[in-house]
This record gives sequence, structure tokens and C-alpha cells, in this order.
Amino acid sequence: MQIRQTDEQGRLRHLITLEDLDREQLESILRHAERYLSQPGKPPPRDTILSGQTVANLFFEASTRTRASFELAAKRLSADVLNLDVNMSSRAKGESVMDTIFTLQAMHVDIFVVRDASTGVPAMIARQVAPHVCVLNAGESDVSHPTQGLLDVLTMQLHKGDTSALRIAIVGDIRHSRVANSAYHALSKLGVGELRLVGPPELMPESDEFVGAVRDTTLDSGIRDADVVMALRLQKERFAQLSDIPDSQEYHRRYGLTQARMAAAKPDAIVMHPGPMNRGVEIDSSVADGPQSVIREQVANGLAVRMAVLARVHEHVRSARGEA
Ligand code: NCD
Repeated sequence: MQIRQTDEQGRLRHLITLEDLDREQLESILRHAERYLSQPGKPPPRDTILSGQTVANLFFEASTRTRASFELAAKRLSADVLNLDVNMSSRAKGESVMDTIFTLQAMHVDIFVVRDASTGVPAMIARQVAPHVCVLNAGESDVSHPTQGLLDVLTMQLHKGDTSALRIAIVGDIRHSRVANSAYHALSKLGVGELRLVGPPELMPESDEFVGAVRDTTLDSGIRDADVVMALRLQKERFAQLSDIPDSQEYHRRYGLTQARMAAAKPDAIVMHPGPMNRGVEIDSSVADGPQSVIREQVANGLAVRMAVLARVHEHVRSARGEA
């Protein structure tokens, strides 16, 4: 169910997965994002390149930060922005999604930002839109969340330099995490010293996934000497059975990031979390708000990454509309 993400001129057209972008393409988006990074305390510089283009945020699954981030990114580039919250239960999948898309396309939407709880929807849309139209995946089931993967590696690079020298531990519900998947795809291209997956066996991915990563079911040894510790939420909405969800207190006791347990990681390790956080479950407030936390920087870097991705695909729109 793959889709070609670049156009005939090699320009980025869709961003559905990081899996088939090469190292050069990833680095080029990341360096582009750096240009949009603001000075501390200041919003990113404005740009008018998306003036005359329309971005529609179509979120078929709840979201606060990713949606707000895409909206602000598009507005900072001077696009017209349309936000649609589409209740999952109100649509029968497949045809009706495309009805919505074709309706919006008739209103001259150029770029669709799509989040959906089922696998394959962003690619399905990308396959059917008009030639100038682009599709950006803002979170697809437990499969892919490419802009999150980009902002995560950008945050690591900004703090720690080249990721190929780093020991990176992802802790928690990796099995249900599109965030972990996209981070893995980016790190496999950019290089990683050692990638560790830490969590209970039932929350580990299948054995044929995350090839090359080291698995550890104990927190202390899993984060030992790590440069980066990324905590993940228990994604309860994706558990097949409610009875499979671990007890929060027990989970915190075994895998919760506390100040005391962070002592096992390197003293200058950074702590990451994609949000939303469950304080007192996968992470304590003292860690989330502590000196090692870069969680708010991830959010700020996310805006820059989304501006960069929008700036990239806008070149395809312009050229396919005959404007370039
Ligand atoms: C994540 C997501 O939606 O996949 N959050 C996000 O995009 N900031 C992680 C999560 O839901 O746990």
C-alpha cells in the first residue's frame, strides 16, 4: 500500500511515512526546519510562500498539539487554513472520506493534513487526489507519524549532535506507538549508536519490527548510560481488550520515569515525550518539568518541522498548477 512521495522532478509531494525517504531527504527537511526555528521566546519568522494556497486540517481522530501545530505552521507561511474535526463515528470509512476530500478539493484545497485511526487512509487519499494536491500524514493508526519522527530527531540533534553516536531508549507502549515507529524509521536512516526498546513484554513490538534495536524489560538496565530517554503514553484506545491495559500504579512502579530512576541514564541525558503526558504514570512531574526535560522544545521544534514540510510540498503545488 505504498505511495510515491516525490513528484517527477524529485520534489516532496506527499509525506505519508519516513520509511522511504533517504538520509539526504531527511537531512534536507531537518536543515530547512532549522531555518524556521525561532529565537528563544520568539515565534518563528513569518514567510509568505504559501500565500494563495489552501491547507485543510482533517482530523478524524482527536488531537490538540499536532492540529494546532499544523494550523499555526500553515498560517505562519500565509496559507488559507481550514480546520475540520470529523467525528470518527459519523463516517463510514472509505467512500465517505473521499467524498469529503473531493468536496474540499472542489473548493481549491491544495494540501490535506490528515489524521486517522485506521491504517492506510492517508495513502488512500494521496492516491486519488488531483495531480497538484498534496497529502501530509498527521498520525495514522499505530503505524506512522512522520512529522513527529522528524521533530523528535531534530530535538535530539539540536541537543546531542549526530544521532549515530547516541544511545537512545524508548520506554513504554512501543507496540501501539506510531511515534516510536516514525522515530525508528528516521533513526535507521540517520544512524543511531544503540536503540533500546524498554517496556513490559506485552507492549513490545512484534519480533520482526524495529530490526537492530535492543529490547529490555527492565527500566534500570534499559536506560543505563542512555543519552536520550523517550517516554510514551499507554495508548489505551489501541489496546485490543480493556483487560490488557496494565494497572497504572504497577506500571509506574516498574516503568515510570522518576528522578531517582533517571540516575541510571547519563547525567546529561535528555528526557522526551510526544505528549499528551500522563503525569504519575509513565513520567513524574519532577522529570517532565525538570532540567533534563526537552518536552516543550519538542513542541516548538514541531512547529518548525511542519513549516518546513509545508514549504517543501508547496513547490509541488505551484509547479503542478503551472505557477512555477
Ligand atoms: C502522539 C500521537 O498522537 O500519536 N501525540 C502527538 O502526536 N503529539 C502520541 C500519543 O497519542 O500518545
